Parts: sequence; structure tokens; C-alpha cells
Amino acid sequence: MNACSRPRILIARAVFPEIVDRLALHFEVEANAPDDIWPRAEFIRRLQGKQGVFTTGGERIDAELLAACPDLRICANMAVGYNNFDVPAMTAAGVLATNAPGVLTETTADMGFALLMAAARRVAESEHFLRAGKWDRWAYDMLIGQDVHGSTLGIIGMGRIGQAIARRGALGFGMKVIYHNRSRLPEADEAAVGARYVGKDELLKTADHVMLVVPYSKESHHTIGAAELALMKPTATLVNIARGGIVDDAALAQALREGRIAAAGLDVFEGEPRVHPDLLTVPNVVLTPHIGSATVPTRRAMAALAADNLIGYLTQGKPVTPLNPEVMAAGT
Ligand code: GLV
Repeated sequence: MNACSRPRILIARAVFPEIVDRLALHFEVEANAPDDIWPRAEFIRRLQGKQGVFTTGGERIDAELLAACPDLRICANMAVGYNNFDVPAMTAAGVLATNAPGVLTETTADMGFALLMAAARRVAESEHFLRAGKWDRWAYDMLIGQDVHGSTLGIIGMGRIGQAIARRGALGFGMKVIYHNRSRLPEADEAAVGARYVGKDELLKTADHVMLVVPYSKESHHTIGAAELALMKPTATLVNIARGGIVDDAALAQALREGRIAAAGLDVFEGEPRVHPDLLTVPNVVLTPHIGSATVPTRRAMAALAADNLIGYLTQGKPVTPLNPEVMAAGT
């Protein structure tokens, strides 16, 4: 195949140089080494004549963009979540969507526990207290928190990551694990991860710690708002490692400020990278900038999987993790 006939792809954000080099073995690549955030019109302009795009979860792919980019055949997300994709519009346009499931499961579950531990044991508040020079004595109630081991963990969303969190809770921390999900797991899977299915209200009322791992959709928008927070125990913590918009951040900030729940750990935010200003001023919340999958091996594996999808589909018609395989069946 001569260089001119090779498919052309766009890499929307900076990624590991070796991934760019690997893609360049197969494609004419336009990369984004400076990691500019292109305005949408520029993104669409750069997509002209491209058959593939490597996205990272922040680039919206919808009917309007697809109509403006008729050469596009595949969008490969370097993320397991794909709420930036309008998959039905992509299917209608004959464009394949792929995501990066599996490779980040354990790393993201670790992050859920990091935030849970930090929130329940007030790790971030304690660090700020110490750095501010406020530690001048021992006190029986200084920065006193809640136990994680032996408590009841409520997981909302029981996909791969939810199940990895359940295993950590049940096997590692001796927790009683309850969960709520659109559909109940088969009994054998429940037994394998040590979790019991309950209704959402029961979970919120019973859990000492609530962990959100549900994908974002119109249906899951504000899964946790003022009414749900009101059901939780005043000693409870809430952890969101799923997506911004699953929690009503303003209602959460108010609940934290009023001590209606004890603490929260958030890795994702409505309208990120902006963070609701009220969250920045309440002390009992640990805030991290969407780093759930951010370890070197996992980010490498996610980028490699997105690259495998582009290479597999554009060179052999065989993507690894397609979201709308019907596009291939339709022969488009
Ligand atoms: C990260 O948020 C992902 O969806 O992979």
C-alpha cells in the first residue's frame, strides 16, 4: 500500500508518543502533541478527509458533526464511558463507535477505595489541618471519622467496576455489600462478589458508604439529588467515580455544609473541568480531577486499545471493542 492510499486519522488530544508512532505505521496521522483544546469548528475542520478519530472522552460526536464529516468511519474513545458519543446518530451515519472497557476496571476500583478511605477517615482535611500548623496537641475527637472496615457499602451501578469494588469491600475490608443496578446480577455473580441486591431507597437508607459507578445517561442524570441525600445516614459518605451529572453537585455541597451526610469523595463533576464553587468551600469533601484510571500501565492500556480499534477496523474491518457492531453488519 503506498503512503497516499493509507487511511487518514486525527488524534484529538496528546497521547503517549509510542501510540502515535504505532498509529503512524498504518495511517496518515494528524496528532495534537501540544494538547490544544480545539474549538468544535476547528475539530470539525481537522476531521475533513479523515476516516478515523482517536478521542479521549471530551469530544462530542453527534449528528451535526457526522453530517459535516462524511469521510469518518470510526471514532475510538480512549475511555470506557462514551457519553460524548451519540451512538444512535453514529449508527445512522454508518460510523463505528468503540470504547476502552476492561483495561481500567481494577485501577478505577482502587480509586473508588482511595476516595472512600480519604473521605471517611478525613485524610484531606487532616492534611490541610497539619500543613496549616494547627496540630498542637492530641485530642480524643480530633478529625474523628467513620470506619470503613466492617461497615455496609452500597454500590449503585454493578458493571465491571462496581463488581471490582464489591470484591474489595467484601473480601478486603469485611464489608457487608449491597447494590442497586438496572438489572440484578445472576445469583452466582452476586455470590462471587459478595453482594446483595436491594432497592435504591433501601440502599441509601442502609449504607454507611455509598459508591456511584453507574454510566451517565438521561436516565441516570441526578441519580443523587437533595431527596436521595436526605435518605442517607448523617454519618454516611458518598463517592462518585462515575460521571459528572450523576450527582446534583449543588445539592451535595449543601448537604455536606449542613452535615446531613458526613463526607464525600468526588473524582467527576457536573460541567468539569469547572467545579461547583460551593464544593470548593466545604471542608468535608475530597476532590480529585477525574483521575480514576490515571496510572501509567492503565492509561497505556487504554490508549493501546483505542489504537487497536482504529487499526483493526480501518485495516481489516475487525475492531476489538465495538459499541455498534451493526454498522459492520450493514457493510458500511
Ligand atoms: C473515564 O472516565 C472513562 O470513562 O474511561
